Amino acid sequence: MSYRIKTFEEYKSVYKKSVEDPEGFWAGVAEHFHWNKPWKSVLEWEFKTPNIKWFKGGKTNITYNCLDRHLKTRGDQVAILWEPNNPEDDAIRLTYRQLYEEVCRTANALKSLGIGKGDRVCFYMPMVPELAIGVLACARIGAVHSVVFAGFSAQSLADRINDSACKAVLCSDFNARGNKNIPVKKVVDDALAMGCPSIEKVLVLRHTGDPVSWNADVDVWWHDIVPNQSAECPPEQMDAEDMLFILYTSGSTGKPKGVVHTVGGYMVFAGYTFSNVFQYNEGEVFWCTADVGWITGHSYIVYGPLLNGATSLMFEGVPTFPDAGRFWEVCEKHKVNIFYTAPTAIRALMAAGDEWTEGHDLSSLRVLGSVGEPINSEAWHWYHDKIGKGRCPIVDTWWQTETGGILISPLAGITPMKPTYASLPLPGIQPCLVDASGKEIEGDDVEGMLCMKFPWPGIIRTTYGDHERCRQTYFATFEDKYFTGDGARRDEDGYYRIIGRVDDVMNVSGHRIGTAEVENAINENPHVVESAVVGFPHEIKGQGIYAYVITDGPVSDVAKFEKELLATVTRIIGPIAKPDMIQIVSGLPKTRSGKIMRRILRKIAEGDTSNLGDTSTLLNPEVVEEIKVGARR
Ligand code: WTA
Repeated sequence: MSYRIKTFEEYKSVYKKSVEDPEGFWAGVAEHFHWNKPWKSVLEWEFKTPNIKWFKGGKTNITYNCLDRHLKTRGDQVAILWEPNNPEDDAIRLTYRQLYEEVCRTANALKSLGIGKGDRVCFYMPMVPELAIGVLACARIGAVHSVVFAGFSAQSLADRINDSACKAVLCSDFNARGNKNIPVKKVVDDALAMGCPSIEKVLVLRHTGDPVSWNADVDVWWHDIVPNQSAECPPEQMDAEDMLFILYTSGSTGKPKGVVHTVGGYMVFAGYTFSNVFQYNEGEVFWCTADVGWITGHSYIVYGPLLNGATSLMFEGVPTFPDAGRFWEVCEKHKVNIFYTAPTAIRALMAAGDEWTEGHDLSSLRVLGSVGEPINSEAWHWYHDKIGKGRCPIVDTWWQTETGGILISPLAGITPMKPTYASLPLPGIQPCLVDASGKEIEGDDVEGMLCMKFPWPGIIRTTYGDHERCRQTYFATFEDKYFTGDGARRDEDGYYRIIGRVDDVMNVSGHRIGTAEVENAINENPHVVESAVVGFPHEIKGQGIYAYVITDGPVSDVAKFEKELLATVTRIIGPIAKPDMIQIVSGLPKTRSGKIMRRILRKIAEGDTSNLGDTSTLLNPEVVEEIKVGARR
């Protein structure tokens, strides 16, 4: 597509134009998509409340752009290439025409269940083609999808269903992941038993075929209502600013919030960034290893690739099953051209040993990508040398659930790379660094908090049901700026290097988890009086979770208690939030006003107790010594 930049010179001139005339620039990009009705204004915005509207008055349907538009030119090309968990099972190839028909059938089935425009639909599904199909089916009829990662607990699922009053849940019987067979439907049953009054129907995909319990009042089998539907379903005419989806993500306080993205802007941004960052060429196989339960899967497994007519590989399994060579085996088997994964996976596979990469033909690879957390130098070089054989550019893509798509990244093969640097902003993106007082930091070789000065089409519009929370979290910290929550450095070439979160959000194996969320879960344990959770550097996960816990009395069997705590966290949030280290303490260092001194706890968790600062003004300086002595390594 002609919105693809081809040289570094062109990037620089397009970038300049995009800052001088953002509306002209984005209008030019948006013209590459199909609109039923043109927009009346490209952009209306102010960050104060915030109120951001892209392509106002325009009408379109994102699935028309993902599917119908391609039928004439590439109806027989593979759209979704599905690789099962078990390498012995057959891969599934859905062409654009087949995907189109499946999406229409599923959309008609959803309609038959009484779901229509504006209704919220929750997904709690493994990585199967039906997850992508179901998401697109919602978008087809204007229903709002809310995908919940299928590793979350029943409690987390119920909270998310209730926050946005979803009308239906789509799930499978079980989830085959590595050696495990996870009872997905059971978790949905448990969530509903906790009380989800808005749910009218549960649509269940038979996937592994293992038996499930059944409630005929709400449960409906996918195979009973989808296959017999018509393979035509006219796309609902959507307003550019109609809601496309909600995706829950963790913040520094309280419960996860529902980030809202809208149809027109998200479409333009996901499509544009996919094409430019990965420099996708017609006919190539693109593999993003994320789960559709996270934003990366939304934008770069489903929407971005399909908007560009790409072949998107969707993998059901895990990197280490049946062995640590699986990723490379899949790359070889399906001749993957572009491979996009997270540093935590790279580090884990690097630790497993180079022998797993050897013996696989990786010559099809052309571009490598990284996302989700800072990539350390060692992992970058291993990825570059062992996987890319020194010839594939690496795109270190920085972005967030709230940004809808990539904001800072090299363009593959175009932007000169610097290991560990996400490098330069994409056209239309205006980053800046600010100090604690909110003053913009100019110049090179500086560090500060990363903000955006100007909106882009994929920016968050609101947090579902609580607009004030959106304002507070992203737009109130610094006047007239979107605050990312990340700290960053900018060097003499204007390159950005992301340092990490400056708020109480941890990044564990690339998953965003709030310290407050984990504390709340730990505090549910009847023996816990108080707790404090901090992140600490972890060789594979990037960050690990360190929990300081005050109990209601002496703990006789520490190992048993720790197990219990892990079970509590798994029950409330899910296994991804389990602490790696638990330290039982008699008190937490607090200021005289009762605020927990997290800085001290973080240092101790990092194993750096040399310079804890002045602790004499604390309410309880004596506990610092106790915690230092008892620190876990
Ligand atoms: C972090 C994932 C360094 C960052 C797309 C951000 C990164 C958070 C990078 C968002 C990167 C993401 N380098 N850090 N290339 N990409 N992050 O919402 O802290 O799950 O704020 O979106 O991940 O996580 P989220």
